[in-house]
Amino acid sequence: MQKKLVQAHGNWVEGDRFWDRESDTALMIEKLDEGAHILLVAQRRMGKTSLMKEVKRLVSNRYTCLFVDLQKASTAEDAIVEISIALRPHTTLWGKTKGLFSNAFTMIAGNIEELNLGEIGIKLRAGLTTGNWSEKGDSLFSILAGSEQPVLLLIDEVPLMVNRMLKGDDFKITSERKAKVDEFMSWLRKNSLAHQGKIRIVLSGSIGFEPILRQAGLSATINNFQPFDLKPWDDVAAIGCLQALAAEYGIQFKDGVEAVMVKRLGCCIPHHVQMFFSHVYDRCKRRGRMEFYPDEVNDIYESEMLGIRGHSELTHYEDRLKLVLGPEIFTLALEILTETAVTGCLTRSTLAAVQNGYEFEDRSTLSASEEILRVLEHDGYIKPGGGGYVFESYLLQDWWKKRYGYFHVPVLERGI
Ligand SMILES: Nc1ncnc2c1ncn2[C@@H]1O[C@H](COP(=O)(O)OP(=O)(O)OP(=O)(O)O)[C@@H](O)[C@H]1O
Ligand SMILES: [Mg+2]
Repeated sequence: MQKKLVQAHGNWVEGDRFWDRESDTALMIEKLDEGAHILLVAQRRMGKTSLMKEVKRLVSNRYTCLFVDLQKASTAEDAIVEISIALRPHTTLWGKTKGLFSNAFTMIAGNIEELNLGEIGIKLRAGLTTGNWSEKGDSLFSILAGSEQPVLLLIDEVPLMVNRMLKGDDFKITSERKAKVDEFMSWLRKNSLAHQGKIRIVLSGSIGFEPILRQAGLSATINNFQPFDLKPWDDVAAIGCLQALAAEYGIQFKDGVEAVMVKRLGCCIPHHVQMFFSHVYDRCKRRGRMEFYPDEVNDIYESEMLGIRGHSELTHYEDRLKLVLGPEIFTLALEILTETAVTGCLTRSTLAAVQNGYEFEDRSTLSASEEILRVLEHDGYIKPGGGGYVFESYLLQDWWKKRYGYFHVPVLERGI
C-alpha cells in the first residue's frame, strides 16, 4: 500500500512525519545502548535535530530522555539552567534538582510549580554564579546518574553556544574567553567520562563543532564522542518521500516526475525535498489541477525554489556562517562562495587571486582563507572536486549564484 506523509511545517519532524532514516536511528540506538557518547555531524538542514527527536521518541520507554536546546545560551550558567529545566517532567529527578537550587526557591512566595518555565529559568539562574556553576553542574550530573533508567541527554546547538562564548559580541577570541570555553568543555568531558554507561550524551548543532573547537585550541575535549555522520537521502528515499507526500495531498505525479525532481536537486537534503514538494503542491492547488508533469519541474525550480522563499532560506545559511566566521572574514567567505558558484570550481589560482584583494587587522589572509575553507567544507557548502572545490548541492550553488552572481566578474577575468 502507498504510504502517506504529512508535510513538515516547522522546524523539525518526528514520529509519523519522520521519513526514512531507519538505518540511522537503529545504528544510533545501537551505539547508545553500548554506552557511546555521540557527536552528530551533518551539513545544514539534513535533519540532525529531527534525528535526535526521533531517537528520543523511540527509546523513551527504556531511557530517561532529556532534550536540551542551547540556541539562546551564551554562558555555562545558561547551559546548566537549560539542562535543569529539561528535568522538570521527570518528577523524582526534578525534586532533587529543586533541592540543588533551594536557596533560590526559598525566596519565592507561593508554589514554584505555578511559575512558568521562563520564570523558573530566571530563578534557577539567580542560584548560579561564576564560582558555583560547575559544582552545581556536577551535582546535576550525579542526580541524572541516580535515575533508575539509563539517561539519554541530547544537547542541540552546543557549537552555537560555544561559538558565542568564544567570540562574544565583538567576534574577538580573547584568552579569557578561551579559558571559559575550556572550563565548560572540560566540565562536560569530565562528567561524560565519570558517568559513562549510565548517561549517554548526544551533541549536535546547525554549525560544525570541530572548526570552532579548533579555533579555541580545544579539539581534544570531545575526542571521547563518536562522530556520527548523517548523509543526504539517496534517490530511493527521496522519491519515496515525494510519493508519500503526493499520496497524502492528492497530487498525481506523472511520467516519473519524482525522479526528475530528485535529479534536479542533485543532493537530497531532506529539507530541500520537502520545500520542493510544498511548491509543487501550492502550484497544483492554486490552478486546481493536481497532475504534475516532468516538463513543469524546471519552472517550479527556477521561479519558486530559487524565488523569495529560497532567498530567505539562504539568508538563514548566511546568518549562521557569519556567526561562525565573524563579520571581518565573512566578506572573503562570501566572495569565495560566489566565485565557486559562478565559475563552478574554485581552483588554487582563483583562490590566490581572490585572497589578493583582502587584508585583515590581526591575521594573515592565508590563515583567514584556510579557516574559511575548513568551515565551508566541514559544514557541507563545498567539497573537493574538479581540481579544486565545488558546491555540494546544486540548489545551494544556484541560490548563491542568483543572489550574488549577477554583478560578479570571475577574479581571473578582471582587468582584461
Ligand atoms: N527524516 C525526515 N523526514 C522528513 N522530513 C525531514 C526529515 N529530516 C528533516 N526533514 C526536513 O528538514 C527540515 C529540517 O530538519 P531539522 O531541523 O531536523 O534539520 P537540521 O539538520 O537540524 O537543520 P539545522 O542545520 O538548521 O539545525 C524539517 O523541517 C523537515 O522539513
Ligand atoms: Mg537543527
